[in-house]
Amino acid sequence: MRTAICKRLGCDVPIFAFSHCRDVVVEVTRAGGFGVLGAATFSPEQLETELRWIDSKVGGKPYGVDVIIPSTYDAEAERSAGDLDRLIPAEHKAFMEKLLAEEGVPALPPGERERIHREIVEGRGSMTPDGARRLVDVALTHPQVRMIVSALGAPPPEVVALLKARGVVVGAMCGKASHAVRQRAAGVELIVAQGTEAGGHTGDISTLVLVPQVVAALGLEVPVLAAGGITKGSQIAAALALGAQGVWCGTLWLGTRESELDAFEKEAVFAARAEDAVRRRARTGKTVRMIRSKLSEAWEKPGAPAYLPTPLQGVLYNEAHARVVRAKRADLYSFPVGQSVCDVNEETSTRDVMVRLQTEYLDAMDRLTTLAAEG
Ligand SMILES: Cc1cc2nc3c(=O)[nH]c(=O)nc-3n(C[C@H](O)[C@H](O)[C@H](O)COP(=O)(O)O)c2cc1C
Repeated sequence: MRTAICKRLGCDVPIFAFSHCRDVVVEVTRAGGFGVLGAATFSPEQLETELRWIDSKVGGKPYGVDVIIPSTYDAEAERSAGDLDRLIPAEHKAFMEKLLAEEGVPALPPGERERIHREIVEGRGSMTPDGARRLVDVALTHPQVRMIVSALGAPPPEVVALLKARGVVVGAMCGKASHAVRQRAAGVELIVAQGTEAGGHTGDISTLVLVPQVVAALGLEVPVLAAGGITKGSQIAAALALGAQGVWCGTLWLGTRESELDAFEKEAVFAARAEDAVRRRARTGKTVRMIRSKLSEAWEKPGAPAYLPTPLQGVLYNEAHARVVRAKRADLYSFPVGQSVCDVNEETSTRDVMVRLQTEYLDAMDRLTTLAAEG
């Protein structure tokens, strides 16, 4: 399974794990894969703490960081990063409040609301070009960070130049071959081709169609990782057959012992079916594939307010989400997951997942060899 990108980055197997949870990043990296910390919602200070912790656990192995650099964002929101609340229209606040009140979801206790709100606002402030740049600067002070990936657009030219000068691989997420071509032209070295079935912000084209399109557009020598719907070793074999140099998984890690989700949230993930992973704008203002719930659906109904631009919708939504989790209301719980959530049914360790993926990959390769020999 060791491909050119493993040699370039210094990992053993091309299994890339996207996670907001530092424990998952550490476990995957220690098991020979490449953990990538989703840092988009961290403040620079939080990121520094997380990276120091990861450095102390991975024994010198390389890992990555993922930031969100949106190509479109609310410029006023960026200017008033400390006071995003003020920019959310009263109508939107009232809509969310009425919904939660009618469902009997209690308000957050005093102090808790302010804490969560502060965290959310700080986090949302990192999802702007300047905010993401602050995260990149923190990541660059950690030499074991060997790759930085940007979501929602290629990094600006000065960031690309800086990363290259430091020998850090510059990656970007794409949902269309034309995006990948533009990102390459902007100096991006590695492309994560993410199909529509993926959890999180996602486009319209499936992984099976997108990956060969991107590989054809860029050539086999450009490292492309297949993302979206991958939870099994047979799918890794398929991704490599399509021309990818590795796989990038997100949903898979949510059910692990190390994941950031609590027991109530994991149960909601284990119960979700492929068809429950729908694309909705309620969470960030852009389409995110996530578990369908009464909360996500209320925003789709006639009479609901129009979605707010990033990052304002996220500020409004995340506070409501915190209330839902606190109240343990599965019927209102929407968290980003891909269609492959149907394969995440029980808690396992990240290490066991890594072993399973590699065993299944070998089985799939044996099956293919047998098939070819029979023919
Ligand atoms: C909970 C969750 C949050 C995500 N947040 C981000 C993010 O902040 N940045 C990003 O580049 N991708 C994000 N993604 C997408 C992943 O990077 C990855 O492409 C996707 O999970 C792959 O598809 P899969 O979910 O079917 O494994 C997220 C995915 C999940 C499940």
